[in-house]
Amino acid sequence: MQIEQNISLKPYNTFGIEVFADFFISVSNIDELKQVLALKAYPNKLILGGGSNMLLTKNFEGLVIHINMKGIEIVSEDDDFVTIKASAGENWHEFVLWCINNDFGGIENLSLIPGNVGTAPIQNIGAYGVELKDTFVSCEAIALETQILKTFTKVDCHFDYRNSIFKQEAKGKYIIASVTFLLSKKSHKLHVNYGAITSQLETMQVSQPTIQDISKAVIAIRESKLPNPKEIGNSGSFFKNPVISKSNFNTLLQNFSDIPSYPVSKNEVKVPAGWLIEKAGFKGKQFGDYGVHKNQALVLVNYGNAKGSDILNLSKLIQKTVKRLFDISIEAEVNIL
Ligand code: EPU
Repeated sequence: MQIEQNISLKPYNTFGIEVFADFFISVSNIDELKQVLALKAYPNKLILGGGSNMLLTKNFEGLVIHINMKGIEIVSEDDDFVTIKASAGENWHEFVLWCINNDFGGIENLSLIPGNVGTAPIQNIGAYGVELKDTFVSCEAIALETQILKTFTKVDCHFDYRNSIFKQEAKGKYIIASVTFLLSKKSHKLHVNYGAITSQLETMQVSQPTIQDISKAVIAIRESKLPNPKEIGNSGSFFKNPVISKSNFNTLLQNFSDIPSYPVSKNEVKVPAGWLIEKAGFKGKQFGDYGVHKNQALVLVNYGNAKGSDILNLSKLIQKTVKRLFDISIEAEVNIL
């Protein structure tokens, strides 16, 4: 365990933004993490997991703690279900593949999501009709202030669409150390109703899909729509899909008869921000080293050496334009630092 100085964070964020941390340390177990948190010399700390949901706009004057704790463990199992605990530093997609290879079902629709296990609960990652909360049992988290390990149950986490207690009251107060999931061993409950999955399975000529087939379908869809952060810097969806009232939606329908929507409640619908951004003319637009992805307007990209502030300014321009055209406020999904 060694504290380094003046370290580039470019390899540690999927946007590939070059900013520097005054101090940097990678921790590989809970004891190391507790020791680092107790260091009084570094009051300003930034916790970095997979770096897949953040936009770094400036150098960090403090200590960056990189969570690198590994390990996957079967806690208990019976004929039907298995309880698995994964350490925070495990790569999310590799964990999904490990489960699929063992024929453990429940997270196959969440294949290829960038990031780590420990950051997945923070925004309740979700894709193709499944959210992390559906298989989540609990997580262990260390309080930054006291270094005490606390267990958060599913109820404690207040999960919601791209939201949890870790983005609200508990924001900046805990570091997730491990996450426990309940997965199926047989009679897997498959989620194939999301449009793109159904058509992808048809293309693959699969009529009775296994969890392995679903994972393959999701990987194919994501690879066709979403840029690989290893090739083009990005942070997945930059914005959340906004929820608007049905009456506002009906007004919009008068001018935009093709506007898509998903039901949320009796009086509300969710509108795809990607559609709004595309209609506003931003899809595929490139401004020097940054822009809006050509296949998915929700994704802002860094083609090389963009600055975080460039991308932040573009996101503000998009928000302003969407507001002007549709009177809808779209909120960033990524954390801006
Ligand atoms: N659309 C457009 N233009 C675009 C993108 C989308 O018109 O450029 C419209 C289309 O009508 C499409 C609809 O939006 O039918 C939905 O698109 P998609 O299925 O790609 O889903 P999304 O709502 O754009 C959300 C998640 C993604 C997740 C997909 C699939 C959010 C903020 N994003 O995107 O999550 O992969 O659904 O479930 O909820 C992420 O969080 O990083 C992420 C990629």
